[in-house]
Amino acid sequence: MDNMKAKPSFNSRRDFLKKLGLSSLPILLPGIGSADDYSDNLFKRDNNKLINLVYDGLAYEPKDYIQKLQEINKSSSISADVYGSGGTTQKLEEKLAELTGKEKAIYLPTGTMANQLAIKMLNAENTKVIVPENSHIYRDEADSAQSVHGKRLVPVQNNKAYYTAEELDETIQNIHQNEVFKSGIGTVVIENPVRRANGTAVPLATIQEIAAYCKSNAYKMHLDAARIHYAEAYQGVSLKEYAAPFDTVYISLYKYLNANGGAILCGDAELIDRMHHQIKILGGTMYQSWTNSAMALHYLDGITDRFKKLADTSKEIVKALNQLDEINISSIDNGTNIYELTFNSNIDIGHFVNELDNKHNIWLRPPNEDGQIRLSFNESILLRPADEIVGSIKSVLRA
Ligand SMILES: Cc1ncc(COP(=O)(O)O)c(C=O)c1O
Repeated sequence: MDNMKAKPSFNSRRDFLKKLGLSSLPILLPGIGSADDYSDNLFKRDNNKLINLVYDGLAYEPKDYIQKLQEINKSSSISADVYGSGGTTQKLEEKLAELTGKEKAIYLPTGTMANQLAIKMLNAENTKVIVPENSHIYRDEADSAQSVHGKRLVPVQNNKAYYTAEELDETIQNIHQNEVFKSGIGTVVIENPVRRANGTAVPLATIQEIAAYCKSNAYKMHLDAARIHYAEAYQGVSLKEYAAPFDTVYISLYKYLNANGGAILCGDAELIDRMHHQIKILGGTMYQSWTNSAMALHYLDGITDRFKKLADTSKEIVKALNQLDEINISSIDNGTNIYELTFNSNIDIGHFVNELDNKHNIWLRPPNEDGQIRLSFNESILLRPADEIVGSIKSVLRA
């Protein structure tokens, strides 16, 4: 799953907030300071101007998705694939192969399937795959490695966002010391950024140390790069640099490339060519996937520059909001697009969230049990000037 725990459904966002009691929380300390000059109805509800600080992507509703595809089709016509071959899907595969610096790429219906088939194929006859303990591959893929593919996932248990080469070695030595059968380790997995660690990026130096270790032990490497462009934008490391040490790299088409679903797996041509059969075995060969690939291809175009702008703008917004006494927004070490908002004063958080939604077309997650709100910055913040977004938040805080 995605960062879906608190995901409001688009059709019932209001009900969702109601269920959480956010529409009815009492006002604890209303009226801190005076409201700014921002008109309450500055923005009429308009999904083209929606600022969502909830998702990694733009959160298209069906009608907007269809309209966007029409726009894309007008500017460069979308061509159909047949069982994943040809058309826009092939263009997307070629584009991501190029961006990751790999020989070839293939479309798969889900990232889960991309991860699982990558480790299965890389591992060949080997049975053990070393994985981060807080990764999607280990915690969120329903034990498919064990139950479908006959692979045993061994986590590096370090209780941190990511592991180092030393910690990887400790895990492997531990297997060697405590298990009689000494072979069977084939693949090492890294997730970057780490979803279960609020989007922490794994430092390039750490990846390179792990890669050197894997090379000297002839282990293959797979990268779950579901949201890699956020690491690229916030850490200033190119996708190609991140991808270089890995045999296979998976990128999601729906986290921030705004498709309805889908995944691309990149790697050596020889391995990618063998994937067609594997996908079919699992029933994953789709007749056509252009509705997803056209959207993703569109959002890949110019992404590095746009995401750099998004990263800079989000930092500008955070800096400006941190001038306000009522709130504090903290960043995460080696962070990407996710920040934590804490309220310094006893304000009615439910009312704050609802007012931003109703009057300013800005979506926030509901607060966690400690009253903090996780902010996910995405391209929607480029739809309006940063000072307007700050002004809206400030005016609701002080209303
Ligand atoms: C880090 C990571 N990897 C893999 C996946 C799986 O993607 P899919 O939903 O396409 O199976 C997700 C989805 O939430 C994810 O967050």
